[in-house]
Amino acid sequence: MKVYAINGSPRKNKNTATLLQKALDGVKESTKDKEIETEIINLYDLNYTGCKSCFACKRVGGASYGKCPVKDDIQEVLEKVSQADGLILGSPIYFGNITGQLLSFLERLLFPYLVYDKNHSSIAPKKMPTAFIYTMNALEEYMDKSGYLSNFNNIESALGHILTKPLVMYSNNTYQFDDYSKYKADAFSQDEKAEHRKVQFPLDCQKAFELGASLIK
Ligand SMILES: Cc1cc2nc3c(=O)[nH]c(=O)nc-3n(C[C@H](O)[C@H](O)[C@H](O)COP(=O)(O)O)c2cc1C
Repeated sequence: MKVYAINGSPRKNKNTATLLQKALDGVKESTKDKEIETEIINLYDLNYTGCKSCFACKRVGGASYGKCPVKDDIQEVLEKVSQADGLILGSPIYFGNITGQLLSFLERLLFPYLVYDKNHSSIAPKKMPTAFIYTMNALEEYMDKSGYLSNFNNIESALGHILTKPLVMYSNNTYQFDDYSKYKADAFSQDEKAEHRKVQFPLDCQKAFELGASLIK
């Protein structure tokens, strides 16, 4: 069995990557009796684009029906992930939404499985459990009132419709710089950020662990 975490952050050891690793630790812990392998895929290491709208995946009788035919670095990942036993997606929030890199990945993964029939049915070969971890500067109240949740809901509904409804967690008010004093960032209080990092981030790590632990039933 294999569970993948997809890191939609360019940073490999910051907020998103840390929480993804905790979620994978939770998966491992909860499935001790099963042979489960876990892997983090860092999207920013790969050279690929979003969907090119070639529609080869929808061409009746075509060799690529139900599959993305575009040959680039993401092709092998799509193959692997389509057979996964669990999929955990993680993204920092950029301008109120998931990163372009993660959205491009999801276009390539999900669109070939979406059938343009009356029910918009899904021909995904496997419907593995999924989860979404979002990290952002915004406080929870701001996230609620500024439309982030409706953006998240769009991608979660596509994922839910084509694969499975994701478990979801947010990590708010994240620590963005190692040393705030070196950057022009007076919108934030370094002390308040540091305190939040010390008190809340470990709780978020625990939440990510629990999310991972409840992924595989
Ligand atoms: C280009 C860019 C845009 C961002 N836009 C937002 C935003 O709209 N809302 C927000 O809350 N945080 C925003 N952030 C902050 C990140 O979402 C936040 O620091 C995140 O936790 C970083 O994740 P990482 O540490 O895994 O890279 C932005 C950061 C960058 C670099």
